[in-house]
Amino acid sequence: MVENGNNNLHVSRAKKTDEFYTELSLIEDELKHYRDYFQDKIVFCNCDDPAYSNFWRYFQLNFYKLGLKKLVSTHYESTKKSYKLEIIRQNDKIGQLSFMPDYVQTPLEQNGDFRSSECIEILKEADVVVTNPPFSLFREYINQLIEYKKKFIVIGNQNAVTYKEILPLVMENKMWLGYKSGHFWFRVPDSYEEKKTDFKIDETGQKWRRMGNICWFTNIDIEKRHENMTLFRNYIPEKYPKYDNYNAIRVVLVCNI
Ligand SMILES: C[S@@+](CC[C@H](N)C(=O)[O-])C[C@H]1O[C@@H](n2cnc3c(N)ncnc32)[C@H](O)[C@@H]1O
Repeated sequence: MVENGNNNLHVSRAKKTDEFYTELSLIEDELKHYRDYFQDKIVFCNCDDPAYSNFWRYFQLNFYKLGLKKLVSTHYESTKKSYKLEIIRQNDKIGQLSFMPDYVQTPLEQNGDFRSSECIEILKEADVVVTNPPFSLFREYINQLIEYKKKFIVIGNQNAVTYKEILPLVMENKMWLGYKSGHFWFRVPDSYEEKKTDFKIDETGQKWRRMGNICWFTNIDIEKRHENMTLFRNYIPEKYPKYDNYNAIRVVLVCNI
């Protein structure tokens, strides 16, 4: 079988190998478009070991610049109790942009599963969730955010728009794509097996895997949503065949719309 970034997704789903750590530059490139949104918000990173997560790092570094009210990150353990990290705004320190905020670490009673009652309580208090969730639980993850009416900016695979749980959300304007998409490299644990393609080990010995069709999903009203698309194709039935089992026509490329 030829391996590509997309096959890495199938492997993730089958074996639940969900440890793909996001690069800081990927986060910065997307979140620069949402800068004004974060003022006075409570941000929750609910799939993020603060020791590894660049989501935690991004929000800690930019806590005052973004004007955050609170940042919470929970770490997941499969079989034992976990912990959370929190930064809470202290009004006397607003404006000191070079100041790195202190955090508080608190043990959790449960294992930090985003579906646990403890994490759901944190979710209820949060305004927005920003992370790269486990690929194997993407459907459940998005549905929980929709159920609790939360704003989100999360990384996923573009193919997720075809899932029966996700497509209706896109069609009903309950979520849409963010700015950046493409094939991106993620750090993976040492225990991950080597691959012939979409795999590398850097000079420090760190393993990396490349995932294909990665994109951002959000329900925050971004400028991109309001840009008009220039459409220049005409509808010709032979060029746009109709699906047998679905009332839709096939348009292979965005530029063919
Ligand atoms: C794709 S990785 C991304 C990690 C981190 N958010 C980042 O972007 O670097 C998904 C993470 O979710 C964690 N995870 C797996 N199942 C989870 C669950 N049920 N609840 C919370 N986190 C979970 C995994 O341990 C893994 O670290």
